[in-house]
Amino acid sequence: MGTQNRRLGSIRIIDDNLEKLRVSMQMALDSCKTINERRKLGQFSTPTALAHDIVAFGLDCVDTTKNIRFFDPAFGTGAFYSALLQVAGEQRISKATAIEIDPLFAKAANKLWLSHKINIINDDFTTSEPDDKYNLIICNPPYVRHHLIASDRKREIRNKTEDVSGVKLSGFAGLYCHFLLQSIQWMNDNAVAGWLIPSEFMDVNYGAAIKTFLLSDVELFRIHRFDPKNTQFEDALVSSAIVWFRNKKPNNHSVVFSYGGSLAQPQKSITITVDSLKREPKWTRFPCQLQKASKQAAPKLKDYFDVRRGVATGGNDFFILEESRIKALGLTLEFFRPILPSARFLKTTEIEADAHGYPILPQRLFLLDCRLNEEEVRARYPRLWQYLESGKDSIATGYLCKMRKCWYFQEQRDAPMLVCTYMGRASSERSNAFRFILNNSQATVTNSYLALYPKEKLSERIACVPSLKRTIWEMLNRLPSDSMHTEGRVYGGGLQKIEPKELLNVSLPCSLEF
Ligand SMILES: C[S@@+](CC[C@H](N)C(=O)[O-])C[C@H]1O[C@@H](n2cnc3c(N)ncnc32)[C@H](O)[C@@H]1O
Repeated sequence: MGTQNRRLGSIRIIDDNLEKLRVSMQMALDSCKTINERRKLGQFSTPTALAHDIVAFGLDCVDTTKNIRFFDPAFGTGAFYSALLQVAGEQRISKATAIEIDPLFAKAANKLWLSHKINIINDDFTTSEPDDKYNLIICNPPYVRHHLIASDRKREIRNKTEDVSGVKLSGFAGLYCHFLLQSIQWMNDNAVAGWLIPSEFMDVNYGAAIKTFLLSDVELFRIHRFDPKNTQFEDALVSSAIVWFRNKKPNNHSVVFSYGGSLAQPQKSITITVDSLKREPKWTRFPCQLQKASKQAAPKLKDYFDVRRGVATGGNDFFILEESRIKALGLTLEFFRPILPSARFLKTTEIEADAHGYPILPQRLFLLDCRLNEEEVRARYPRLWQYLESGKDSIATGYLCKMRKCWYFQEQRDAPMLVCTYMGRASSERSNAFRFILNNSQATVTNSYLALYPKEKLSERIACVPSLKRTIWEMLNRLPSDSMHTEGRVYGGGLQKIEPKELLNVSLPCSLEF
């Protein structure tokens, strides 16, 4: 026993030194590349302490009577293998295989782990065929977004994913989704897999197929979401989760959802049955929103408002002008309508108006909104024609302008009664990342806002009781932070966004039938 301990002790010291060497090798390799090169291959390494926690958790989940057969399909320099050597010791590992696409990394890793029993293959995982089956897969796959994958390659990857997992993924799914699904053919029965992936799959449309797979094809048993304020991978700008499942048919079991803190000691956690999860479209609600059922009965914003994204102008610098510039160009306000500055520059939460309905703000901005066709403008408004001509070779060729019947026709958006900033950061856990602005002016807004229009019944009520506007606005700004955050989505570094449909779904504390 004593000899054994001394032997294990010495193994760990060797591996600790190797881990230090691995980290310095990783840093050297990272520094040879630009951030864009690294993004294309999703080259963001797992920090040592996190890799250690993940491996320790995975080892607790595998069948202890069996030796470890380990597989990592996106190896890098081997953060997880290094942790595995430290936590389990090499004796427990009967087989280890890894794949790495980048020859630089594969070569460095092969050199580093030369004296260990691991086979590191320099290849593309999405085109590789399994040489064997494994009982522990731990992977931080490349977070490569769909638009960075060439369309031919994307088609091949999607076909392969469907062939091996039976799941047809949307074209919007990132590479990590394909990694997770394709790995199933490398897992033996009851094998355990831990995937460190962006948590956005839990809420977005393309993630639905992954969630169905996790609930119907395998035994999902734990999802831990890291607090986005403690981003694990600073340069990858995503918020991450670790998803654990077993290659085993599910049997309406329960899944533990945890959040914050660490995998071993989360800040919050709850247990939810697979049946409840099947009914829940947004998994990032868990474990924070336990009173979901009672919230469902509460009135929602959609009962009283229509929500539309503000105008996408096709070129704010060209179409949005300061009043002084309009005058300097010799134009009149006839073809302009007032517009609010973008959310970043608007410090107030209530917009007052002058006698024309123009907002009273330090910066008075106007949107060029001319509905006359080009012949008419050329014939009747030479100054305006001259201005439009100046954008013909640049602005008019942009995607949005090209798609319009006439390149400078703007979407028609009435001045909204209320606007909501559609992305932001909360300054504290209880504060709201989004602001509601009461718009008493005739100004419209750009797509840096969501525009709220009261439905007919509410409009009639407001016409009778104008003070209702202000009451509603104050109530919206006092909404508990979680009622907005539950509907929106969170990105790395705590950036939050809310889309029109999500805003409509926000629960209100009371009905607006005052
Ligand atoms: C997020 S890093 C993780 C590296 C390492 N496992 C870790 O946790 O630190 C993803 C790795 O996958 C590699 N990779 C990207 N595309 C790949 C592919 N199609 N097949 C295999 N490896 C790939 C990248 O070069 C990168 O080293």
